[in-house]
Amino acid sequence: MTATLDILRIRLDSAEQGHVLGFWDRLDDEARAALLDDVASVDLEQLKALHRRSLDQEPTGPASVEALPQITKGADSQADADARRVGEQLLRDGKSCAFTVAGGQGTRLGHEGPKGTFPATPIQGKPLFQVFAEKLLVLERRFLQPVPWYVMTSPGNHDDTQSFFAQHDYFGLKSDHVMFFQQGTMPALTADGRLILESEHALFRSPDGHGGSLRALFESGAVADMETRGVEEIYYFQVDNPLVEMCDPVFMGYHRQRGSEFSSKSVPKRAPEEKVGILVLVDGKPGVIEYSDLADGLRNAREDSGLLRFRAGNIAVHAISRAFVERLNEGGFGLPMHIARKKIPAKQPDGAIASVDGIKFETFVFDALPLARKVLLMEVPRATEFAPIKNRDGSDSPETSWRAQSTQFADWLEAAGVVVPRDPDGSPQHRIEICPLFADSRQEVAQRRTELPDSIDADTMIA
Ligand code: UTP
Repeated sequence: MTATLDILRIRLDSAEQGHVLGFWDRLDDEARAALLDDVASVDLEQLKALHRRSLDQEPTGPASVEALPQITKGADSQADADARRVGEQLLRDGKSCAFTVAGGQGTRLGHEGPKGTFPATPIQGKPLFQVFAEKLLVLERRFLQPVPWYVMTSPGNHDDTQSFFAQHDYFGLKSDHVMFFQQGTMPALTADGRLILESEHALFRSPDGHGGSLRALFESGAVADMETRGVEEIYYFQVDNPLVEMCDPVFMGYHRQRGSEFSSKSVPKRAPEEKVGILVLVDGKPGVIEYSDLADGLRNAREDSGLLRFRAGNIAVHAISRAFVERLNEGGFGLPMHIARKKIPAKQPDGAIASVDGIKFETFVFDALPLARKVLLMEVPRATEFAPIKNRDGSDSPETSWRAQSTQFADWLEAAGVVVPRDPDGSPQHRIEICPLFADSRQEVAQRRTELPDSIDADTMIA
C-alpha cells in the first residue's frame, strides 16, 4: 500500500488535490484501501480540463442549426402498418428488449426512494415500475415471447430498486427476464476545481448521466446477455413517463426497416417558449440542442404550414441497435461532458459537513446521435405518448401526468361509446384508469365494450 500511496500522493499534489488524503492518518486499513481505490480511478487530467472549460463564460454555440427531417406517426397509414408488422415480428422473435434508465437522482420530484417506485397512475397509484412491468406482460401474452427488460440504476438506488422488484414479485414478470446493472459515476468539484470528499474516505460522486448507459450497457455484460438471448434492438425510455408506448412496434419497425442505428421520437413543441431540447441538425450532424441555444429568430421560425420549423421536442424515447452499442464500445468513444452547478454536501477539514457550490458532470445519451451511421426521427402525438413526472407541482408533475393518463383512457372509452363528461378544456371530469392487462389500446377497449359502464360518473378504475 505504501508504494501505491506514495505514487498517488505525488499525482494528487501535482494536481493540487492533496487535500483528499487529509484524513489519512485517522483511517483504518479498510477505509484506506477504499480511499486509494476511489482516488486511483479518477482521471485527474480530465477533471482539470473539465474545470477549465467550466470557467468559460461564453461557450461557443453551434455554427448552424437546421431542421432534422422526420417522419410523422399516423401520416401514412400504409407505411405505418408495414412498419408495425416488422416491429411485431421483432417481438415475436424475441429480438426487441426494453431498457429503462433509472439511475437519476430525481431531485426535483423529491420522492423518498428510487423514482420508479413513485405512485404514478391516477386511481390506483401504481408505481412507475409496475406500469412498465404490466405493459411488458401484455406484450409477452400477445406475442407469446417474454421481452427482456434491462434496468439501469446507480449506486445510490441500486439495492433499493432490486429489493422493490423482489418485494413485489417482479409484478408478475419472471425474474430471469429482468436485469439490473449500475451506471458509472463522476466525481464532483468545488467551484475552484477541488475534488469534494463525501466522507473521510470517499469522494463525492454522482451518476454520470443517462449517456453513461451506452458504456454501462456494455461493461455490465447487458449487451453480452442480449446477444445470448438473440436481442438485436433496444427500446430506450426514461423511468418517469407512464405513458410510454412500450416497445412501440411501429417505431421499432421503421427503425429496423430503414437500417437506423439510433432512432428518436419527438413531440411537437407546444410553443416557441417551451423549454425542451430539440432534435435538429447541428453543423450538419443530428443532435439535440437546448432551448437556450436556439436564437430567437430560429425559435419562432415557422414553415408555410404554420408549424414551428424547430418543433421536434425530445422525449427521450429511442431505438438503439445492439450492434451500435457494441461498435461504440469496441472502438472506444467518449461523449461530451455537460456541467451542472449544484449545492453539494462536503466534508470539511474539521470533519463537519457543509453545503458548497459544486460542479457535477454528466453525459447525455442523445450526444451519441452523431456517432450513428444512420438515424431516424419520428414525430408522435404528445397526448398519447408523453406525460413525464419530473416535478412535485406545476408542469410535468404527478397532477399533469394523471390528467394526461385519464384523458387517454377517456378517449378510448368514448371511442367505444361510453359517455365521459369533460371540463371545457377537454379534461375528463373524473379520474379514470384502465389496467393494461384489461386493455391497452383503443381497439382492445372497444372489444370489451360489454364489460364497460355506459357512462363515467365518478373516479373509475377498470381492471
Ligand atoms: P432527468 O434528467 O429528468 O433527471 O433524468 P432525474 O435524476 O430523474 O431528476 P432530477 O433532474 O434530479 O430532478 C431523465 C432520465 O434519465 C435517467 C433518470 O433516471 C430518468 O429516467 N438518468 C439520469 C439516469 O439513468 N442516470 C443519470 O445519471 C441521470
